Amino acid sequence: MANVKMSFIGLLDMLRFKNMKVQRDKIIDSTPVTALVENYASNLNAAARHPLSQTFTIEDIKVRGKGDVKTYTLRRTDGGNPAFFRAGQFVVIRQMIDGKLIARPVTLSCGPAMTLEGKVQLTVKRVEEDAFLSAYIHDNWKVGDTVETSGPQGTFFYEPLRDAKKVVAIAGGSGITPVYAMANAIADGDEDFEMTVLYGSRTKKDILFQEEFDAIMARTDKVKLVNVLSEEEAEGCEHGFITADLIKKYAGDGIYSVFAAGSQGMYKFLDGEAEKLGLIKKYYRKELYDNIGKPWNYPGYPMEAKDKVFNLKIKMCDKVFEIPCSANENILVALERAGVAGPNRCRGGICGWCRSRLLSGDVFIPEDTDGRRAQDKLDGYIHPCASFAVSDLSIEMPLKR
Ligand code: FES
Repeated sequence: MANVKMSFIGLLDMLRFKNMKVQRDKIIDSTPVTALVENYASNLNAAARHPLSQTFTIEDIKVRGKGDVKTYTLRRTDGGNPAFFRAGQFVVIRQMIDGKLIARPVTLSCGPAMTLEGKVQLTVKRVEEDAFLSAYIHDNWKVGDTVETSGPQGTFFYEPLRDAKKVVAIAGGSGITPVYAMANAIADGDEDFEMTVLYGSRTKKDILFQEEFDAIMARTDKVKLVNVLSEEEAEGCEHGFITADLIKKYAGDGIYSVFAAGSQGMYKFLDGEAEKLGLIKKYYRKELYDNIGKPWNYPGYPMEAKDKVFNLKIKMCDKVFEIPCSANENILVALERAGVAGPNRCRGGICGWCRSRLLSGDVFIPEDTDGRRAQDKLDGYIHPCASFAVSDLSIEMPLKR
């Protein structure tokens, strides 16, 4: 038999441990058996702040610009308040079109304070290439209709721990909507930073929200709007493109963050300007929530795939679908065209909600929109919203969440 030595302290510890067990058993035995609380206040609170879906009734429609942009005022149908959000976030609109469930992210184009009045606003530009939703909304949504959206999502908002106190916001066309939401939040006292907006439009007629920005600038000196026109010279406006020199002119001295919201083409140009300015990554942020298309505009695209249609096999739980997949559209759009509802949110390759496993075949993923984790890349996962078929494919996708 082994000779085990134990110190006095060790013996005390062992006795304490044995006593602890006895005490614990006593407490368990004497505890009354009652059912668990069904709804903890914290869970109810979390569900109200982060709802999976919200139902609205269209209260008002305002036509803007050249008539190709409309702002919809939506009131919560049940009379409650919509979920509070951070200025710059979006909701996903879910719409049945010809028996197919189509979803698209749309930025909330109002200050978060509007939720306290029971409503929010969405601004939609009619984009013919996105024949699915924007054209449908413009042609069909009318006052009194019911609209279903997700809760607020996205990370394109001001974060004081990361962003500089001074922000130069660069917006192109309808990309002004998240910036307009931020300007409202500053004027309402919901956000505390200074923002100079460089707003790029072709001509004066293309400028959106001018009157609203004028009203905001009358309320606060923390927001300044500078219109930059590319195809027209006009008094009080800058002319040309939003270059590094122009950004520097309005940023002035000291540290500043650049927030950019616009098209992929605009981002491509701005990336070069941001490099000239020597902006570090955390001070250069882009809104990347949009349907990704025209993959041939991204570096590295295999042009021989353009205009081809491939065969796409999708495994979803115990179901298998085989559908045609145009190389010119992302895989998520191909699924929607075929009436297969896959999980999605940001549609910009960032959130990972549509994460799927590539079983066979090749895809093109633009580097700019590749939001996959390093391990997912190694394990063969793709984000179908940011992936384009360049051969016949087989993928395994989770069910709609
Ligand atoms: S929907 Fe967000 S990554 Fe695809």
